[in-house]
Amino acid sequence: MVWCKSIDEIIDMKFICNPMQDKIKEIREQSNAFEIIDLESAEQYRLKFLVKKGLINLLFQEFRSVEPEKKKKFGAELNVLKKELESKHKEGLQSLNKSESNEDNTSLDLPAYFNDLGSRHPISHTIEHMTEIFERLGFDVVSGPEIEDDWHNFSALNFPKNHPARDMQDTFFVDKDHALRTHTSSVQVRLMENTKPPIRSIMPGRVYRNEAISARSNCFFHQVEGLYIDEEVSFSDLKQTLYQFVQEFFGPDTKVRFRASYFPFTEPSAEMDIYLGLETESDARLTKGTGWLEILGCGMVDVNVLENCGIDPSKYTGFAFGLGVDRIAMLKYGVKDLRTFFYNDKRFLSQFSSL
Ligand code: PHE
Repeated sequence: MVWCKSIDEIIDMKFICNPMQDKIKEIREQSNAFEIIDLESAEQYRLKFLVKKGLINLLFQEFRSVEPEKKKKFGAELNVLKKELESKHKEGLQSLNKSESNEDNTSLDLPAYFNDLGSRHPISHTIEHMTEIFERLGFDVVSGPEIEDDWHNFSALNFPKNHPARDMQDTFFVDKDHALRTHTSSVQVRLMENTKPPIRSIMPGRVYRNEAISARSNCFFHQVEGLYIDEEVSFSDLKQTLYQFVQEFFGPDTKVRFRASYFPFTEPSAEMDIYLGLETESDARLTKGTGWLEILGCGMVDVNVLENCGIDPSKYTGFAFGLGVDRIAMLKYGVKDLRTFFYNDKRFLSQFSSL
């Protein structure tokens, strides 16, 4: 056995007796003895060893007063220890995560998680169906803002200054000059102002009116309005387009009728009804006992409106129409209360998930 030690070894021996060396050893031992078994113990480990006031940082503070010639050795050892502790914490957390996800994947007894798949809203679906039919008839789709100024929602459309539709009771005003649009005819004005005829477009969108909320009416609803402007567009073009639409949407045998009506922005104006009959109780209710259900307003664009929008009425004529989407969706899906479309109740909406 060789008892004699080299100078280096003797210096090393001295280090072994150094308090810093002892502390490094002790902390390492404490760390090794610490078991990270769950999130709570992982956090306790972090608090004990790794935070600013934890053991490793205390040691770094003491390190400042170590004699200069020993700094290199202890500095290196301290850094190794710090890395060790950090990776123990990190690996502890990782294996906790893993074991959690293993549980989910491997336990065959657990009930399966079913992802709720979203579906198109019945109102969106109705708008899409309408749009698709009008696109086939040569209409394109345009949209516009829901907050409108007086000009686009009313004045350009020939509403007299004292027209009741401007009244606070019908319109949600945002400020003195702006309101939530009460119809998508405002988009027609924007289109006419910015486009040279021929124009053949539909404007689907949400509109707002300050109406009492009930099973049949709401303070917001949806419209698909349409506009066709070109040379020699006539009322019979209007009728033909709407007939075509109704036959595609409601079926080839659907009976319709036009009734004379009034809108400030069309002249002549009409409303179109479809015949539902009186066979079921709900038909009777929806049609108020007549068998006929009004589904749209329409007419030839008023000369004043064309002029307001910079279109020459001596050269161009046009027709416009506006369909109410929500009522048609009620009819299509047999929904008795309009409000149920907008409660966002999954039990209601999931019934349309195959659309
Ligand atoms: N803007 C009308 C409404 O909201 C509908 C309509 C559009 C009527 C175009 C005629 C022509 O009631």
